[in-house]
Amino acid sequence: MSREVLKLNTDWFFLADDQPEAKEVSFSNEALERVNLPHTNKILPHHYFNEKDYQFVSWYRRPFYIDQAKQGKRLIVEFDGVMSGTEVYLNGERIGEHKGGYTGFSFDLTDYIKLGQQNILAVRVDSTRRTDIPPEGNVVDYLLFGGIYREVRLVVVEQLSINWSYYQIQQAQTAEGVILPQFELVNSYAETKEVRLEVSLLDQDHKQVGTSEQTLSLPPGSKTATLEEIKVKQPRLWDLVNPYLYTAIAKIYEQNSLLDQVETKIGIRSVEFKSDGKFYLNDHPLKLRGLNRHQMFPYLGNAMPARGQRKDAEILKYELGLNFVRSSHYPADPSFLDRCDEIGLLVFEEIPGWQHIGDQKWQDLAKLNLREMIIRDRNHCSIFLWGVRINESADDDQFYLETNRIARQLDQSRPTGGVRVFRESKFLEDVFTYNDFEYNLTGKVKLPNHRPYMITEYMGHMYPTKSYDSIERLINHALKHAMIQDKQHGIPDMAGASGWCAFDYNTHREFGSGDRVCYHGVCDMFRLPKFAGYFYKSQQSPAITPVVFIARQMVPSFFEDYGDEIVVFSNCEEVALYVGEQHLATVQPNYVDFPSLPHPPFLFKERQWREWNPKDITSMKAVGKIKGKKVVEHIIYPFGQPQRVELTADYQQLIADGSDCTRVVVELKDQNGQTLHLAHHPVSFELLGPARLIGENPFSLEAGRGAVFVQTGREHGRIVLKASVADLPTAEIRLESKPMQEKIVPLRKEE
Ligand code: GAL
Repeated sequence: MSREVLKLNTDWFFLADDQPEAKEVSFSNEALERVNLPHTNKILPHHYFNEKDYQFVSWYRRPFYIDQAKQGKRLIVEFDGVMSGTEVYLNGERIGEHKGGYTGFSFDLTDYIKLGQQNILAVRVDSTRRTDIPPEGNVVDYLLFGGIYREVRLVVVEQLSINWSYYQIQQAQTAEGVILPQFELVNSYAETKEVRLEVSLLDQDHKQVGTSEQTLSLPPGSKTATLEEIKVKQPRLWDLVNPYLYTAIAKIYEQNSLLDQVETKIGIRSVEFKSDGKFYLNDHPLKLRGLNRHQMFPYLGNAMPARGQRKDAEILKYELGLNFVRSSHYPADPSFLDRCDEIGLLVFEEIPGWQHIGDQKWQDLAKLNLREMIIRDRNHCSIFLWGVRINESADDDQFYLETNRIARQLDQSRPTGGVRVFRESKFLEDVFTYNDFEYNLTGKVKLPNHRPYMITEYMGHMYPTKSYDSIERLINHALKHAMIQDKQHGIPDMAGASGWCAFDYNTHREFGSGDRVCYHGVCDMFRLPKFAGYFYKSQQSPAITPVVFIARQMVPSFFEDYGDEIVVFSNCEEVALYVGEQHLATVQPNYVDFPSLPHPPFLFKERQWREWNPKDITSMKAVGKIKGKKVVEHIIYPFGQPQRVELTADYQQLIADGSDCTRVVVELKDQNGQTLHLAHHPVSFELLGPARLIGENPFSLEAGRGAVFVQTGREHGRIVLKASVADLPTAEIRLESKPMQEKIVPLRKEE
């Protein structure tokens, strides 16, 4: 028999209070709230709240029943992420604790479980400001939120099992790929066992393309094993256009009986920063163009289930056209990384922390977080760089020599970086990663002498911009991002740059704009783009998506104008601009001001808005052309009156697991389907069916738009969401929640 993985996300009881008796079997669940994971300990408005509201201790309780048939197995509970201090109890007995909200951990429950009887798993979750746990200790520019905010599962294995597998990519060339399989095996028997470990690598047609096997003698306890390398002839290399994944299956046998089997997706690719300063993917230079991502969402804090995590990766790749993301300032949710592997989006992942280095114990925890991060994530082919410093901290050679050593020991296949904010910082890593906030002020480039070199942040606090700011500001914000990306593209020995940041995020009162939001994103918190988002989108190849976007709204007025140029973001060869039917001009990318960008903005200069009689203006159209042919267009119209409310769900089909959810975007549109960017109208929602609305109700639009989430219950069925704005027809959207198929840990003895 091989391993069994049972979901442990459903049917928890939640107590928003620190009552130590909650660990006891006899404690009553009656007055507690029924919740499912991922769960935030407090649903909050998207801004203007008090962070103290989630900084408390809570308890989660999950009754369960495991029948006698599991006698002789080992039962391991795995947590993907709990904020920040966790103590785990089974049937009143303390099993262990974990410190740190951004890495996973597990406990072996076998010796505490009562088979054939009711058990109660109780988890004390400390979401207060734990100054002993990174990133806390001083101030932090983001909120941590609270709760068991990632998934939990129960893994049932034999007495001898695989603890982790690591497929180190040693070589990735078109002729051959070389993979070194490594494992940690746990033997819980009292005696030494002779076993056979077999690995086979399958392509997407389930064809075996490589194998390796070894006989091992395993004394009691845990032991690492390295198998002979697997050589794959003419492998399909993983890259950003064809992110080909193989499946590695590891099986462990005693005689001929299968003890354990673990499947892992791997990509065969090489990532390297060379002495010429460039980054190479599969030996091809790739200029890294990215943004920083915080994992938090409106209302839900960090507790976004897999679907929304995966969607974020898609937004970064497809809507923002990026080739990489920095997971600032902590390890990401596993499902986010899975999706990055699947779609081809590179990831720079780093340890939790922000500017502050604590005492020795704190540093030991940071080192533990580093180990946990690398062991968990080193099979993700999307990850190309490990961040082994506390973001923007002071130099501390002793500490950082050690973090570099740990990273290199756990993973010889990737370089280390570590994000600093001063140029004189000691270069202990493989890549000098630096936050540069001077670019957009001076436009001058002062580079440190170190190579490889990469800018890990720019912009951010230099030019915060809200989605409902003035058009001038939105344009400037976008052009500053464009200017900095242009500079980095012009420096051949700079590996790349990631801007601050992809999405607006919740932060403490000392940061951001005072309403607990930091408006540094090229998208708002709802992941809806500002103009700067379209700049990034326009930098990807037109072969992937042709883009043309007029960066302004159309306000025909005798008195107002927005300067004398019209900016269009596009990846086409030329853009023709029409006012009404009249052809105004056709221009080429502006290589004068942006000599190095893959796709410079198009500037239609000296075009006064007042040139045209506003009464006659019916539209403005930008036509993007390649080889003289139209490939894409964008039309804007003078704003009309509110005509309809529009609801758009990212997904129509959800799973009735009690946490699955979809974003539903709400926009107020005029008769031409344009979002009315000055609208703050309140929208009232009504939800019918087995789901709940996560969000403010009524919700006041921001820049004419916003979003709520619809989260399933445990019942399946049809869901209807209605949205109304005074004097307009009610909008309606239909969703469906389907029964959950996956096996869960039974709550009680099944009849
Ligand atoms: C950086 C920091 C980020 C964020 C940003 C705001 O210094 O690393 O976390 O605070 O500033 O611009």
